[in-house]
Amino acid sequence: MKGVVLAGGLGSRLYPLTKVTNKHLLPVFDKPMIYYPIQCLVNAGITDILIVTGGNSAGHFLQLLGNGADFGLQDVSYTYQQGEGGIADALRLAKHFADGEKICVVLGDNIIEKNISRAVKDFERQERGAKILLKKVEDPHRFGVATVDRNGRVTKIVEKPKQPETDLAVIGIYLYDARVFDFIEKLSPSERGELEITDVNNFYVKDGTLTSDVLDGWWTDAGTFESLYRASTMVREGGANRMDD
Ligand code: DAU
Repeated sequence: MKGVVLAGGLGSRLYPLTKVTNKHLLPVFDKPMIYYPIQCLVNAGITDILIVTGGNSAGHFLQLLGNGADFGLQDVSYTYQQGEGGIADALRLAKHFADGEKICVVLGDNIIEKNISRAVKDFERQERGAKILLKKVEDPHRFGVATVDRNGRVTKIVEKPKQPETDLAVIGIYLYDARVFDFIEKLSPSERGELEITDVNNFYVKDGTLTSDVLDGWWTDAGTFESLYRASTMVREGGANRMDD
């Protein structure tokens, strides 16, 4: 399975921190933010990785990550997203890289305590479709929110609902088969003018091929002042990307 880290967008919620640099280069405790999603993929045994950057300072990713030697990689691939067309718009750029294989996509501002090895292994065995990871949160209105039936099957996902039906956030780690790129082609921009990853996931819900797991250990994004601060604190206190579980 190949890995994709999405690190485009303009990081406008962190302005002026992102006025001259890219959000994913900002520090989360002792490392640049983008180190965490890359390590997450590497820990799950995924070593063929594409970084999608965008906005400011794209060249700095190359300077920082080079050929991936710091992560024990032989090479890293890069591409550039023009503008801020949304997560699914950034993912669209990975089609050529994926080349028909399954992919594991990690948002560049998502950090987890443990690892996704089990979900990745399960998805390798899943014949077709997609897998998402869920986590109970106190502020579901900030995220994609999943409704789950009695058998634990996701029946719908709503992006940033004002009145969430559940407290199950869809975290920014997604596993897809190659059809994801066909679904992206069918999308129209949302009210905020973006191609939404939640709409992609809902295609898989309708298709009946979406599976889900609840993530073990803590998870946070780092795209707002509060969550960036929290991410640093959690990494400092508990460490991220732990392999023991
Ligand atoms: O963190 C999980 C949440 O991430 C999910 O629960 C939501 O369903 C999903 O839409 C997303 O919500 P956000 O509004 O927090 O996403 P944000 O715009 O902050 O983008 C998250 C990352 O995605 C960002 O760090 C880089 C990448 N991205 C985003 C945009 C808008 C891109 O690569 N290109 C983009 O155009």
